[in-house]
Parts: sequence; C-alpha cells; structure tokens
Amino acid sequence: MSETTAPPTPPISTIARIGDHVGQTVTLQAWLYNLRSSGKLLFPTFRDGSGIIQGIVPKAAVPEHVFTTLKELQLESSLTVTGQVRADARAPSGFELDVHDIHVLSAVDPAQPFPISLKEHGVDFLMEHRHLWIRTPRQSAILRVRATIMRAAAEYFDRNGFIRTDPPILTPNACEGTSELFEMKYFEDDMAYLTQSGQLYIEATALALGKVYSFGPTFRAEKSKTRRHLTEFWMVEPEMAYAGLEDLLQLAERYLTHIVSTVLHHHRADLKVIGRDIAKLELVIAPDDSPSADPQSPSADSQKSKGLSSFAAGGGPASLPAEAASAPRSGFPRLSYDQAHAMLEQAFAQRKIDTPHTYGDDFGSPDETYISSQFTKPVMIHRYPSAIKAFYMQPDPLDPTKALCVDVLAPEGYGEIIGGSQRIDSFDLLKQRIEAAHLPLAAFEWYLDLRRYGSVPHCGFGMGIERVVAWICGLDHVRETIPFARTLNRIYP
Ligand code: 4AD
Ligand code: MG
Repeated sequence: MSETTAPPTPPISTIARIGDHVGQTVTLQAWLYNLRSSGKLLFPTFRDGSGIIQGIVPKAAVPEHVFTTLKELQLESSLTVTGQVRADARAPSGFELDVHDIHVLSAVDPAQPFPISLKEHGVDFLMEHRHLWIRTPRQSAILRVRATIMRAAAEYFDRNGFIRTDPPILTPNACEGTSELFEMKYFEDDMAYLTQSGQLYIEATALALGKVYSFGPTFRAEKSKTRRHLTEFWMVEPEMAYAGLEDLLQLAERYLTHIVSTVLHHHRADLKVIGRDIAKLELVIAPDDSPSADPQSPSADSQKSKGLSSFAAGGGPASLPAEAASAPRSGFPRLSYDQAHAMLEQAFAQRKIDTPHTYGDDFGSPDETYISSQFTKPVMIHRYPSAIKAFYMQPDPLDPTKALCVDVLAPEGYGEIIGGSQRIDSFDLLKQRIEAAHLPLAAFEWYLDLRRYGSVPHCGFGMGIERVVAWICGLDHVRETIPFARTLNRIYP
C-alpha cells in the first residue's frame, strides 16, 4: 500500500516555532528573502511572516536541480523548503536550516525583480510600494506588535467588566468639531458624516449597560500633515456611568500599563528588530519611580486632600472593578493645565524651549515634547481651559473655566495618545453648550435625551491605536503603524 512505501511527510513548521523541531526535518511555507552564495555554498534566507531563518545549501549535499534552481531564484519567489533544523547560537534567530529540498510555487520573473532591495529607499518610494514594503522584517515586526496592542487594548476591557458596543460609522452629527468631518451625500434629507469618535453613542450605551467600550475606525478630515495625524485611524473608547475624572485617570494608567506589559511579554524579539530601546518601555511599567513625589505633579491622594477629586474619587458606585482596582499602579505623573503651563514658562525662561506658551492656548507639539521629556512615564495633563476643549466636557466645580478632562502624553515626545473627560450631565448646561457651539440642536435631541432620562456623572476617553504603536515601537511617523496609511496626500495603494 502506498502508505507503507511513501516517504514520511515532514511536519510543516512556522519559523517562529522552529525551535520545537531541533534535529528534525521540517517543511517551511516561505518566500525567498535574501540569497548569498560563495562558490559551492548557498545561504538563502527565508521568511514566512512569523520570522526569518537562514538556510545552508552545500552543492554536494543536495540534488543538482535544488542547487541550480535556488541559485537562480529571484527574491520574493514563493517556495516550500524542507530541511533539518539546527540550533546555532550565532544565528540571529538561534537556528539554521540544512536545506534538503525545495519546491517553487511562483518564481519571480528576473526581468521584473522585486522592487524593494536591502539598500536604502526613500519613504515616498516605500509608501508607494507599501503592499510590498510590509514584507520586510521591520515592517512585519511592527504589524505583529500592532496586532498585540489591539488585542491587549480590547482584552483589558473584556476582563474588567466593560461591554463592547459598536457605534455607527455613518453619523448625522459632529462629535469633535465640524471642520474635520468627511461628508457624504446619500440619505434623502440629511447629510451624513464619517464618524470622528464613537463617544456620543457609547455615552448612550454606557447609560444602558454601565461600563462599555467601542473599538473601530475613525475619520478626521483635518488638513494636518504632521507625523501624528492620519485621516483614518483606529480608536478604542471606554465609557463608564457613575464615574468621574479620578476614575478615568486611574483607568488610563492601568490600561496603558497593561498594554505595555503585554507587548514586552510577547515581543522582545520584534522590538529588537524594530530597533526599539526596550529599557525605556520597562521604565513605563516599573513600580512607581515616584514622579508623583515631585511637587509639580500631585498624586491623586494629594489632589483629593485639596478637594480636587472628581465624582467617584472615594470609590463611587461604579469605581473600577475589584480586579482592576487591585492591579498595581505604576504611578503616572499628573499635572494640571496650570502646572504644565508653569513648567513651560520656567523652561522658556531657562531657554529650554524656543517659544513661550500663551496661557489659555492648547499645547503645541514642542510644548508636549518638553513636558513629556521631564518624565519616564506617560504624563496625564488634566483640567484644560473649557474654551479650548469640546462642548460636552463637564466644568470643574472648583473652577468652572476649566474642564474635567485629561490628555495623556506618551514619553519621549510621542505626544497625545489619550484624550478624555467627564461629560456634562446637566440637561440645561449641555443644551446651552450645544447652542453656544452653533451645533444643530435637532441633530442632538437624542443626545439630550440621555440627560432627560436618568442622567448620571459619566466619563470616558479615546485612545488612538496608531499613536500608541508609534510610541511603543519608537517610530518617527504614524504612517508605518498601520498596514495601509491614509493621510492628507495618500490613498494609494
Ligand atoms: O482627543 P480626541 O480627539 O478625543 C475624542 O475624539 C474623544 N471624543 C474621545 C473620547 O473621549 N471618547 O481623540 C482621541 C485620541 C487622541 O488622543 C489620539 O490618540 C487619537 O485619538 N487621534 C488621532 N490619531 C491619529 N490621527 C489623528 N488624526 C488623530 N486624532 C486623534
Ligand atoms: Mg485630543
């Protein structure tokens, strides 16, 4: 019977799991990433999406057709490779493959070689060939880390009693400001817009379900051409009923700590390929390095004692669930807007920044970079002037010109990664703010209903996945954080 005469089929392995097969013969489903030759030896490098491994092909050890086929094979041809796995401490992956056989599935035409080579290419060229650029080791590593960040971002909420509720992508009104809306004409009587944030809708689901989150694509038509702006990006947004600013600050800190810990747990090798300084990430999750001992950055406790804490600071009805609340805090520094402004004034006086910060204005990118450079952990800036923040933010009862809001700035100058606030819960005040912002009241009737029927203090934030990937991977630009970036000037490929 053929079963007894056919040679055993070697098991298929991924490169990532090849360490499980040392000494055994395995088959890889791969692409030819690189090829060196030295006389009677070939050194092909194979990639399969999970990693990279070097093979060794001595002319004398393989059938002639294997040697000649491989020798002529163009990079990025697809092939299956069978060989014996050998541990080799000098190999970057720790293993090498003694190749016995190959089977080419699709040979790249030598007249049209793979356009991306190991030499340097300009970023425009690479973005134009993004569909191929993502095959290179650093870009693949970034996308693997991104996937883990997305998983950890959802997992934290799933484990801590938040219900995922998906807001619509087509919306009748603005959430964050009308100048950044993508318009769409389709519905008979109404203009529709692509969502800029699911917030207004998850306020509704939070009042239905308590603690909720959403996770989806978000669109901003702002004409920003910075290294932090995409026109299409992914935002994760939690929203909690019966909770205030203090709850939100604690959530943001635990949330980011979970995400960084998860990446460090699974992706040290990828972070190395990317070239990330891992020690900087370790500082983020290290037990409190006491920036909160800094008089410039009062801890939650000292704020409480000054009466600055928000609604549920003492453990309001919907404080964090027990599991999250008992997780170790790593002590992210907190600065009020006023304290951050004072820090910038001092920095300007000491010529550490070029332009003075005008009190009342938002922080510019150099301001944020300076502030974050003072700390090793993300810094949480709270209580901005209401005038420069969104219409829905709850005023601080102790100083109604300020909003109960927070922006979290990533370390090392990566800028804002989280923006959030407590929401106005008074019907009258919200209506007044909608009118003052010249927003169409009719479109917000449903949103006002949330204050007509059982209004409670509630709060939430939005975190942009791509900004977090840029920070955690240490990338200069968000265009490398998503498979196919959409920016002001790019819709291809
Ligand atoms: O600060 P933003 O605009 O806040 C909101 O949209 C709130 N409604 C969220 C909420 O409270 N539920 O955006 C939140 C985050 C930012 O901190 C940033 O990380 C990211 O979304 N973000 C962008 N990321 C990439 N490109 C852009 N153009 C972004 N705009 C915002
Ligand atoms: Mg913001």
